[in-house]
Amino acid sequence: MEVRVLDTSDEMGQAAAELFAQRIEGKPDVVLGLATGSTPLKMYDALVRLYEQGKLDFSHVVSFNLDEYVGLPTNHDQGYRYFMDKNLFDKVNIAKENTHLPDGMASDLAAMCAAYEEAIKDAGGIDIQLLGIGGNGHVAFNEPGSGKESRTRVVDLTSETIRDNSRFFKDESEVPRQAVTMGIGSMMEAREIVLIADGADKAEAIAKALEGEITAAVPASFLREHPNCTFLLEREAASRLSPGALESGYGAGWGTIGVSNPRHPSRGGLNFVLRFSGRKPK
Ligand code: GLP
Repeated sequence: MEVRVLDTSDEMGQAAAELFAQRIEGKPDVVLGLATGSTPLKMYDALVRLYEQGKLDFSHVVSFNLDEYVGLPTNHDQGYRYFMDKNLFDKVNIAKENTHLPDGMASDLAAMCAAYEEAIKDAGGIDIQLLGIGGNGHVAFNEPGSGKESRTRVVDLTSETIRDNSRFFKDESEVPRQAVTMGIGSMMEAREIVLIADGADKAEAIAKALEGEITAAVPASFLREHPNCTFLLEREAASRLSPGALESGYGAGWGTIGVSNPRHPSRGGLNFVLRFSGRKPK
C-alpha cells in the first residue's frame, strides 16, 4: 500500500482529486465509489474546478455511495443524497440516473441492500473507492466489530459516531440511530481504494489502522489487506504514526520512503511517500 503525508488539507484534497481525475480520464465510464463527510469536500471542490475548466467530463461516469442514514427523507439537508447533489453531482455533468446511494427510506431495507450489491455487480464493480475514516476507525458506517466479510446492511450507530456527527444536526437527539452501509467485504472488492484523513482528531484512528493489529475493532485496519490501497493524510492526521513504523513498512516485507513534495523538502520531515508491498519488486 501507499501512504502519502501532505502538508495541508488543501493539498490532500488536491492529491485525491488528481487521482480520481486520472481514473476518469483513463476510463470515461469509470465506476466511482464515493463518500460523504467533511473530509471529501476539498476533493469535490477540486473536481468541480477541473470540470468548470473543461478538463474533466463526467457524462459517462457511474457512481455508488457508501452509505446513508436510515429514516431521513431524501431531501433532508443532512441526508447523503442531498450532500452529494449539493457538493458534486449538481455542479458537474454527471447523469443523475448514473448516481446511486442506498435508500435509507426503503420499506424493505434488507431487499434494498441486496439490490444495491447487485447493482454494483451489474455495473462491473467499483474501479476506485473513496473512503474517509471515523474517529473510532470506522469506514463508511462499518462501526468497530464489523467483520471483514460484511456486506451492505443496516447497522446501529455507536454513541461515539452519533456524538461526532451531531455537529451537523441541531442537536444529538436528531441524529439517526441507524444507517445503511456498504460492508467491509463489499468495499474490499473495489479495484482501488483511496482513504483520506484530515485533522488531529483522526490521528489515533490512522495510527491504529496502519500500525495496530488488523482487527474488526478497527475496521479501517482491514484496508492493509487490499492489494491497491492509498492513504492520503494531512500532516496532523499522520501525527501519531511512529517514525519507526514509517521506516519499517508497517510490518510489510518491503518499503521505500521518499519526499513527496520536492518544493518543500525541509518541512518537518513529514512529506513522505511510502510504498509497501508484500513482495520486493524484481
Ligand atoms: C461519517 C461517514 C463516513 C465518514 C466519517 C468521517 O460517519 N459515514 O463515511 O468517513 O463520517 O466524517 P468526516 O469526514 O466529516 O470527519
